[in-house]
Amino acid sequence: MARPVSRRAGGVDPFIVMDVMAAAAEKEAAGDTVIHLEVGQPSTPAPRAALAAAHAALDGDRIGYVAALGMPALRERIARHYRDTYGAEVSPERVIVTTGSSGGFPLAFLASFDAGDRVALAAPGYPAYRNILAALNLEAVDLPTSAADRFQPTVAALEKAGPIAGLIVASPSNPTGTMVSRAELTALAQWCDARDVRLISDEIYHGIVYEGETTSAVEVSDHAIVVNSFSKYFSMTGWRVGWLVVPDELVRPIERLTQNFFISVPTLSQHTALAAFDGRDELDGHVRRYKANRDLLLAGLPAAGLDRLTPAQGAFYLYADVSHLTNDSRDFCKRMLAEAGVATTPGVDFDRARGAGTLRISFAGSTAEMEEAVRRLKQWRRV
Ligand SMILES: Cc1ncc(COP(=O)(O)O)c(C=O)c1O
Repeated sequence: MARPVSRRAGGVDPFIVMDVMAAAAEKEAAGDTVIHLEVGQPSTPAPRAALAAAHAALDGDRIGYVAALGMPALRERIARHYRDTYGAEVSPERVIVTTGSSGGFPLAFLASFDAGDRVALAAPGYPAYRNILAALNLEAVDLPTSAADRFQPTVAALEKAGPIAGLIVASPSNPTGTMVSRAELTALAQWCDARDVRLISDEIYHGIVYEGETTSAVEVSDHAIVVNSFSKYFSMTGWRVGWLVVPDELVRPIERLTQNFFISVPTLSQHTALAAFDGRDELDGHVRRYKANRDLLLAGLPAAGLDRLTPAQGAFYLYADVSHLTNDSRDFCKRMLAEAGVATTPGVDFDRARGAGTLRISFAGSTAEMEEAVRRLKQWRRV
């Protein structure tokens, strides 16, 4: 008899958006056009300066292994980014380059928590947090949030969570695009620091902001772990490069973990990421387009019955309450795709308890696609 799948792997949920993407691909293969509002990635390539650096590295570098914690030049450049962007002094020693932010989560969790520890996080939230936690024998503790608290964790919710070892905060958030203010992040960090709870701040959508200001956890706590990536603002999803900023005492433990898990992060991607910091004009242009897309959808979707939208402060998502239209968001998204040719992500991916009444709309595509999506949805809802 074959050995059964481990309980850890068996407890990991699928990412339902992948099913939507497969159904969309099928529809396209049958000759239909689909407007992709389900994808959580920029529709643009890496900035030109980064691509030039990639070509130069291919021509001039051996592309061998590099130091486990990352190329020194890239760690220094990321540290400088904290001075330039937040006015915060971060030593390059504390910066650890990772394989996307996804590669940073297991390192951060393993360095901070022991099996069985409880880690709090907002619902709705990015599903991989809970799935990675489950795979590491850690317990995800949902903090139910609402539009009133901008779908972000609050100290009041933490007080009710029972004993926890960690808190994950994502601002701007996926799937809502909402943010915590500096005062709120400070209060959360102080609450955590006073109780030896590790704050893990996912800052992957920093740089893609329309309203308000982003605060990095490095500004408000010496004990927090910051997770970030070149995937979103820097438009480099497939290059798989991100970073952590960790407290001094975690550098060496994470170095040992990452040496053994990964040896090093893809070298070509690190050369490319280093030069991405020189592509800011181009990248800021993408952010202006996202803002135009957001404004267009906020203005146009109510006429299609999608009138309960969370106005994103950042990232490129709108979270829609569709509980007046369906009690099965999976089925609703399936019908929207089949009948209107518009792909979105059912809320069950982000909130297992309440996601049957919500969906996520990504506006990372072109403005013409957003216009076409509004046109199609208006027509669909009139049928
Ligand atoms: C909130 C959040 N964190 C992390 C990630 C992972 O991104 P990556 O591994 O490409 O850095 C994503 C991707 O969608 C995300 O939305």
